[in-house]
Amino acid sequence: MSRLVVVSNRVPNPRATQPQAGGLSVALSGALKRRGGMWFGWDGQLSQGPVSRPRIEQADGIDYATLPLSRADYDDFYLGYSNAVIWPVFHFNLGAMDYQRSHSEGYARVNALFADALTPLLEPDDTLWVHDYHLMPLARELRERGVRQRIGFFLHIPFPDYDVLRAMPGHRQLLEDLCRFDLLGFQTENDRHAFEESASLAVGALVHEPGRLRHRNRELRTGVYPVGVDVDELADVSQRTLTAPRVRRLLDGLGERDLIIGVDRLDYSKGLEQRFRAFETLLQDYAHRRGHTVLMQIASPSRSSISEYADLRQRLEGLTGHINGTYADLDWAPIHYLNKTFARGSLMGLYRAARVGLVTPLRDGMNLVAKEYVSSQDPENPGVLVLSELAGAAAELEAAVLVNPYDLDSIAAGVNTALAMPLPERRRRHAQMMDVLRANAIDVWEARFMADLTGPAESAD
Ligand code: UDP
Ligand code: G6P
Repeated sequence: MSRLVVVSNRVPNPRATQPQAGGLSVALSGALKRRGGMWFGWDGQLSQGPVSRPRIEQADGIDYATLPLSRADYDDFYLGYSNAVIWPVFHFNLGAMDYQRSHSEGYARVNALFADALTPLLEPDDTLWVHDYHLMPLARELRERGVRQRIGFFLHIPFPDYDVLRAMPGHRQLLEDLCRFDLLGFQTENDRHAFEESASLAVGALVHEPGRLRHRNRELRTGVYPVGVDVDELADVSQRTLTAPRVRRLLDGLGERDLIIGVDRLDYSKGLEQRFRAFETLLQDYAHRRGHTVLMQIASPSRSSISEYADLRQRLEGLTGHINGTYADLDWAPIHYLNKTFARGSLMGLYRAARVGLVTPLRDGMNLVAKEYVSSQDPENPGVLVLSELAGAAAELEAAVLVNPYDLDSIAAGVNTALAMPLPERRRRHAQMMDVLRANAIDVWEARFMADLTGPAESAD
């Protein structure tokens, strides 16, 4: 079996004591721990100037090869083009795009830097798997340095419709660059279709059969590989952490009240403002829920030097104050808002304790929290997932209570339905979702992508 070389911007520090949030590093940690290999990318640190020689360390059978970013690269590549241009546009939010020429220059610069640093580490029979929107030019950069190994790419976030994408400066180059990979993986059929349409309209790629494109005399393949979770591990952890002292204290404090849980990075794509307002609608329109329902929202700080993120944090604090100020009583506050990151293991007990998992992104590539919530339930007495129909996970979790995340009444009604749902229906929906989650678990994601990437070569004529 050839060595797997995973490349992503975000690489978790194997020695870190602080927990980190984000679906990409959760999924890749799971995939690499089983298979071993090398994980190359940013170490999350800043350096005085550019560093092109990675630091290599081993942990859990994985070779971590990581680099710090200079302040300019962090500003232009990470905060700039990656997170203030591509992220908002790919989440269909053109209003949040902040394009500056220095951003696209930084994006090109860091992709070239990554290629310079990675090329000398490669062995002839390696297979490369590049992840996410920060690194779309990487195959081209590596090919220009003579790298001939197979290179696959997986996009963890949505792919926008062409009419949205074409507003983004630099989109043609990115499409050209994506066509230099051997295999492109997407979370949903919708995303794959949007890419194929954009590639054919903007850069003349020809889709000659489903999943096969020809571009500039090269063949490339596309596929749909929904990221999954380790269902059995989560079930096990959730059962054990349900009795952890902090979860017990929470449950004692709740008494007979119903817990609704939300867990997200503090990101405008997650629909948190709408979620808080919808919870207020629930308290207004379903008065019997007042005093008997608590929304616990964990909002893990993310990208906080981008103004869109800092502003959102302020608005959420204001909304929490407003809702608690309006509805709280001596012995009850409706919203429990925690602006910090929790270790992933300790979330599972909270999921299991919650009657409702409330996951309402305005757009999301997948949303692992939705899958973690379902996997953490007691099958005999499961809670109910209320899920945005605009999350990638909704394509698989059809047995969730699906809501429109922009429609506050739809969310409030969905939560009320979930809280009132009889046990047989809860069990039926849970079992249905568990079947899908088992079939598409995290090891299946990795195995299917790798099988397609390392399968018989295409003729390049
Ligand atoms: N997460 C965590 N601690 C937190 C908040 C989130 O470990 O305080 C984890 C969560 O369990 C999930 C991931 O971060 O595995 C978030 O992934 P998701 O796909 O839901 O969203 P993303 O952050 O990737 O947009
Ligand atoms: C999403 C993205 C990942 C990213 C993660 C956390 O899951 O798809 O690429 O790593 O968010 O964001 P951060 O900016 O902290 O890496």
